[in-house]
Amino acid sequence: MMLERFGHGGDWHTAADLFGEREQWLDFSANMNPLGPPPHVHEALRSAWQTITRYPDPAVRELREKLASHHGISPDNILVGNGAAECIDLAMRVLKPRRLGLVRPAFSEYEEAAAKLGCELHEVYLKTENSFVLEEDLAVRLSDCCDTVILGHPNNPTGQLIPGASLRILLSSGSKLIIDEAFLDFSQEEETLSLIPEAARREGLIVIRSMTKFYAIPGLRLGYAVADAALIREMQKLQVPWSVNAMAQAAGIAALEDSEYAARTKQWLADERPWLTQALKGLGLTVYSGMPNYILFALPEDSPWTAASLQQALGRKGILIRDASHFRGLTNKFVRCAVRDRKDNEVLIVEMRKLLAAHP
Ligand SMILES: Cc1ncc(COP(=O)(O)O)c(C=O)c1O
Repeated sequence: MMLERFGHGGDWHTAADLFGEREQWLDFSANMNPLGPPPHVHEALRSAWQTITRYPDPAVRELREKLASHHGISPDNILVGNGAAECIDLAMRVLKPRRLGLVRPAFSEYEEAAAKLGCELHEVYLKTENSFVLEEDLAVRLSDCCDTVILGHPNNPTGQLIPGASLRILLSSGSKLIIDEAFLDFSQEEETLSLIPEAARREGLIVIRSMTKFYAIPGLRLGYAVADAALIREMQKLQVPWSVNAMAQAAGIAALEDSEYAARTKQWLADERPWLTQALKGLGLTVYSGMPNYILFALPEDSPWTAASLQQALGRKGILIRDASHFRGLTNKFVRCAVRDRKDNEVLIVEMRKLLAAHP
């Protein structure tokens, strides 16, 4: 059995099956904000508890209004979903691709949503030697071959943003585009980099956002899609009624009110990502550059360690990392780890240093 038996990180139930029961894991396998949910969210959930005897707002009005003013767009351009995962699924179902373009490695839900529709996949492999950047020739290949393209901005697990030139190629092609910005809110350049304004004013572009990582509420499930109003209405028709529960709606509204938390989170990552990158490099690992709150790195080719053996050894110490070899396009040397707070990151580095100095 592997830790990623259900395709994702953050699975403490499987961790317990593999490494024994623990109350807490030092979890670098899922990419959550280590500051924990904003204090406003705690308070909102305490009072939202009273509302669970009623159905939630089926049109998610207040949260859509808040999101719209946050991004400077109309609420008609927003569909709130049960996590970005549901929005990806709805985006795919509304666009009904015949041939879907995606990169390798990429988030597994893209192909899973595509598989449910039985559509053909066109895969383009990002090159290790180019640090997994989506270069212009690859963007041309995707837009030439496919009626729909889905990409992470930044991509998971590589952490790379789509370069401007490649984005322009994709946007000016006739292909429809789904851009997954699940981790873009961690960037201090979020507003400049986001395609949300573009998605609200043109056809054939859907931007996906998650609220679960930035606000550390994956258990509540909350995400949204931005697109032109007609497409949003079509997506709504495909959605299960009351898909976004009352607690999730209340948490989302409260989270958006806490701008101090947002600034603190962006500053934490701006400080901590370079620190962890340097510390991993100091262990002799190849560390890939990128923007988000996770880092892709590779063990040396001649090391006796693989991602799987490192995951096992750390798991026995209560530390979870992501064996990234399960992403197609990566070898058994690739690992992805979240960026956490300094104290936790130091524990990871100390434990890895001890392990890597010996044999598995
Ligand atoms: C790239 C990417 N997109 C979307 C999601 C889904 O996020 P959510 O928890 O909002 O469904 C994830 C979760 O890991 C992800 O990594």
